[in-house]
Amino acid sequence: MCGIVGYIGNDNAAPILLNGLKRLEYRGYDSAGMAVWQKDRTIKLIKRTGKVSNLAACISIDKEDAGVGISHTRWATHGGVTEANTHPHVSWDQQIHLVHNGVIENYQTLKNSLESKGVTFYSETDSEILANLIAYNLQQLDGEITTKTVYKAILTSLTNVEGTYGLAIMCASLPGTLFGARKGSPLILGVGKNEMMLASDASAIRARTNEVVYLDDNQIVTLTEDNFSITTIEEAEVVPEISTISWKDEDAELQGFEHFMLKEIYDQPAALENAFRGRLDMGEGISKFGGLNLSRQDIRRIDRITIVACGTAWHAGLVGEYLIEKYSRIPVEVEYASEFRYRNTPMDKNTLVIVISQSGETIDTLEAQREAQRKGYHVIGIVNNVGSTIARENDGGIYQHSGPEIGVASTKAFTSQLLILAMLSIYLGRTRDLSYTDGCQAIKAVMELPNLVKQTLQLADSIKGIAKKFAHYDDFLFLGRLEMFPIALEGALKLKEISYIHAEGYPAAEMKHGPIALISEKCPSIVIVPDDETLKKNLSSVQEVRARNGKVIIITDSNEIPSSLADELIIVPKAHDCVRPVLMTIPLQLLSYYIALELGRDVDKPRNLAKSVTVE
Ligand code: F6R
Repeated sequence: MCGIVGYIGNDNAAPILLNGLKRLEYRGYDSAGMAVWQKDRTIKLIKRTGKVSNLAACISIDKEDAGVGISHTRWATHGGVTEANTHPHVSWDQQIHLVHNGVIENYQTLKNSLESKGVTFYSETDSEILANLIAYNLQQLDGEITTKTVYKAILTSLTNVEGTYGLAIMCASLPGTLFGARKGSPLILGVGKNEMMLASDASAIRARTNEVVYLDDNQIVTLTEDNFSITTIEEAEVVPEISTISWKDEDAELQGFEHFMLKEIYDQPAALENAFRGRLDMGEGISKFGGLNLSRQDIRRIDRITIVACGTAWHAGLVGEYLIEKYSRIPVEVEYASEFRYRNTPMDKNTLVIVISQSGETIDTLEAQREAQRKGYHVIGIVNNVGSTIARENDGGIYQHSGPEIGVASTKAFTSQLLILAMLSIYLGRTRDLSYTDGCQAIKAVMELPNLVKQTLQLADSIKGIAKKFAHYDDFLFLGRLEMFPIALEGALKLKEISYIHAEGYPAAEMKHGPIALISEKCPSIVIVPDDETLKKNLSSVQEVRARNGKVIIITDSNEIPSSLADELIIVPKAHDCVRPVLMTIPLQLLSYYIALELGRDVDKPRNLAKSVTVE
């Protein structure tokens, strides 16, 4: 949430910052601003409410701009969407310019204290306290303002704040220096040729360099155009580890698609292939993972699994529960990370904890991971974003390799998570009761999946037609049984978040215990009907809806369902049950996308949302 970009180098900073902000806009789009050094050694400050394009409209290439600046795209937490609340914030004495991602929890106490000392505040944000506190502490250090004194002032200030921050800071008396700091909110340093960058994530940096340093919590970085140094908040020097970003800048571009969501839906065959590449052993009928850091003996000792995640990733976890229990017979619990971290869940000694997170930065999931580690559990992560905090801190993990996901509504990351959980189920199953033959069949199904997804995507035009007919309903029910129940939940979430239509997911048979009261000609149901032992029961649910004049869209892989049974029948290719949830998801993604499009919604930037929820 909130995107930070900082630049120091030889080129004009403004267009570089703007380009970075465009790449980070999915983290927040309430308002945007930048502060750029001018050749005359003043700082130009520009802020606009609304999307980054509003800011872009008032920025032109200015020969007077120098190569240093900071910028921010905001997802509002404290204070409304106004220019005054837009970052960068400037201290009352005009010395400190700063952008912040995170929440300062004790800002009111600090603000009261500074106000009593004559400091003036201009915004309602918690972030402004940081600018004023650093400036105040700088004033307390008599003498010339130098890199050392500003660093000291930052250090002193950060030891007094409670909460989380990713920061980029400039001082009006130090034209050639930038500072960054992180605690709880991601911050990456980009190391280029005679230039350095700071950003909330790699997508803002990739166009300039693929060499990055992932800063850890409680670290402060000091940058000049050709050098940087990192210390901890205790002033210990840090030896930086430079990592390479493996994806290309074009991977984070639209590549001719109208929206990132659509592009990412179509990315799925490739993303799924990336998720299983090098991880399948047909000879042994098993999948394999290099980074779990668990021996076969450790795996055999696991007697329970707890999966922890948020939102769409939590839905993936629920599918994982069905698959892991089915193939390995290991009992699985799935918890919301936000509940798990405060709940003190009783767990068995040999519990394996799995966290799932596309961004690897979701604060609740990160804190849940830390809580599990504190209690001594082995935590493995299923994470997309390489080098993210969750990935760096866990005890082992499986990278998704889905490539950058920019659309706020998660699509390819979700189906990749489903596939990885299916492969993990096979792996765990093969260390227990799953036979060689069953293992081989499942592995073959994984290999065939990208092609089946390509075939399913050919349904797009007919689903677009269905979307047109159904876009104007205000309520939807999504129904499914067993592993299709979480897929129903995911279908409902996708529709809600990008079209703002009320939708609920239910286990199909639960409908009779309450939600059936909602059924009328005004509330259509989307029923997921796999061709398995639940088929007849699901069709009974369909009949119950139709008996109450409810319209029905059936998504199925059976060719035996008469089209007269539904208002719309969407038939996906048949697949092994370990990968079937992926195929059932694709029509739901397309349906939400085309309904949102039909309603004129901003598909990639739905209201109130932001990707990567880094505040509680
Ligand atoms: C919905 C969506 C969110 C995320 C959730 C967790 O489309 O994207 O529900 O799934 O915020 O995010 P990650 O996976 O980054 O931890």
